Amino acid sequence: MRLANKAAIVTGAGSGFGAGIARKFAAEGARVMVADIDAAAAEAIAREIGGVAQAVDVANAASVEAMADAARAAFGQVDILVNNAGITHLPKPMEEVSEDEFDRVFAVNAKSVYLTARAFVPGMKAAGTGAILNVASTAGLSPRPNLNWYNASKGWMITATKTMAVELAPHGVRVNAIAPVAGETPLLRSFMGEDTPEIRAKFLSTIPLGRFSTPEDMGNAAAFLCSDEAGMITGVALEVDGGRCI
Ligand SMILES: NC(=O)c1ccc[n+]([C@@H]2O[C@H](COP(=O)([O-])OP(=O)(O)OC[C@H]3O[C@@H](n4cnc5c(N)ncnc54)[C@H](O)[C@@H]3O)[C@@H](O)[C@H]2O)c1
Repeated sequence: MRLANKAAIVTGAGSGFGAGIARKFAAEGARVMVADIDAAAAEAIAREIGGVAQAVDVANAASVEAMADAARAAFGQVDILVNNAGITHLPKPMEEVSEDEFDRVFAVNAKSVYLTARAFVPGMKAAGTGAILNVASTAGLSPRPNLNWYNASKGWMITATKTMAVELAPHGVRVNAIAPVAGETPLLRSFMGEDTPEIRAKFLSTIPLGRFSTPEDMGNAAAFLCSDEAGMITGVALEVDGGRCI
């Protein structure tokens, strides 16, 4: 019960890594708000883990404010914020990504971190404690071709993590990131373009441990980084990548 007495919000928790993080947090004793743009998916995971469901578009300021109000009403103080919701454009040459696709990727993957900081950092500063976890990607550290603007959004997130960490350290708030390698979630197909044995084999050949990552892998790393066991760790981007970035 490493997260007993903690209240946590996990965005994008209706699916994939976010659901894995929400499940693990609940198993470790946290009260969890399962926040997702897909309200039905959020409801299903919340029901499963005994959490609170919240519909949110993390790219929209009013929606993020409404989520923060709901969290304060449900929990009082919010101890842990996981910025997990993320999207990608499909793999294609950088100049062929439309302006709309570019804007949406940056709104969901980057602007959301600013909007949730605006909504939750004042409360964490006032409490003198808190943990924020940003779900970045190996794409932000060791990018592949044809996912250019997605990769750049995750590089942005890693820099945001470090600068948030250094600014919030005097207030007792820790900020870390995880950098997952390609994982078994619905998003994987978008990264691969199409899901064929050949493309899977190509991705797997770059992962020394020889498998895709899982929502459970992210739950385990997130639970550690957001627990008091990681009390001396801030500003890291922890690769959860089977050795891909070596
Ligand atoms: N799966 C991978 O291979 C992989 C690898 C590295 C990093 N990541 C990152 O992990 C995170 C989670 O991805 P996943 O693979 O679990 O994807 P997923 O598609 O399974 O889950 C993402 C969830 O976010 C929600 N979402 C999308 N836009 C939203 C918005 N505007 N507001 C609120 N919720 C929104 C979706 O409804 C979905 O439930 C993302 O940030 C992604 O970039 C994924």
